[in-house]
Amino acid sequence: MKTLSIGILLASACIAGWAQAPAGRGEIERGRYLVTIGGCNDCHTPGWGPTGGKVPEQEWLVGDKVGFSGPWGTTYPANLRLLMQGMTQAQWVQSASTRQLRPPMPWFNLHAMTPEDLAAIYAFVHALGPRGEAAPAYLPPGQKPAGPAILFPAPPAAQ
Ligand code: HEC
Repeated sequence: MKTLSIGILLASACIAGWAQAPAGRGEIERGRYLVTIGGCNDCHTPGWGPTGGKVPEQEWLVGDKVGFSGPWGTTYPANLRLLMQGMTQAQWVQSASTRQLRPPMPWFNLHAMTPEDLAAIYAFVHALGPRGEAAPAYLPPGQKPAGPAILFPAPPAAQ
C-alpha cells in the first residue's frame, strides 16, 4: 500500500513537472510531426504543394498571399510564425480549441486535437521563430482581391 501511494505521488509530481516544463526536444519533434501530417503547410507555406513538400523548414508556415475566394469573401492563410510569437502556449491552446474561422481553414480539425497535441504544435512553431510578413487582410464578399486568389464555387443548394 505504501509503495502504491509513493508511486502515485511520484507520478503526480512528474505530471505537474511536465505541465510547467519549457518545450523539450520531444515536444518540438511531436509538433513538427503533427504540423506535417495535419496538413498545415498545404495552405500556410508558399510552394508546399507544387514542390512536393520540399520547402526548407525555416520557411514553413509564413502565410500566403494567394487568397481563397468564395461565398465567404476572400481569406488568406495567416502567418503562423508571427501569430505564435504574440501569444503564450496557454492562449494558443485555448484559442485553437474554441475559435471558428472562415473557409477553407479546417478549424474543426484543431478542435479535434488534444490540448497536448496543440501545445506541441505551439512548441514547434514558436521554436522556429518569427519570419515573414502578415498575410493580406480578409476581404468581405463582393470585394475584388488585388492579387491572385483561388476561386471556390458556391456550395450545392440544400436538397
Ligand atoms: C485548406 C487550407 C488550410 C489548411 C489545410 C490549414 N489552414 Fe489555417 N488558415 C487558412 C485560411 C484561409 C485562414 C484564414 C481564415 C480566416 O480568415 O478566417 C487560416 C487561418 C488560420 C489561423 C488563424 C490565424 C489568425 O490570424 O488568428 C490559425 C491559428 C490556423 N489557420 C492554423 C492552422 C493549423 C495549425 C493548420 C494545420 C492543422 C492549418 N491552419 C491548416 C487555411 C488553411
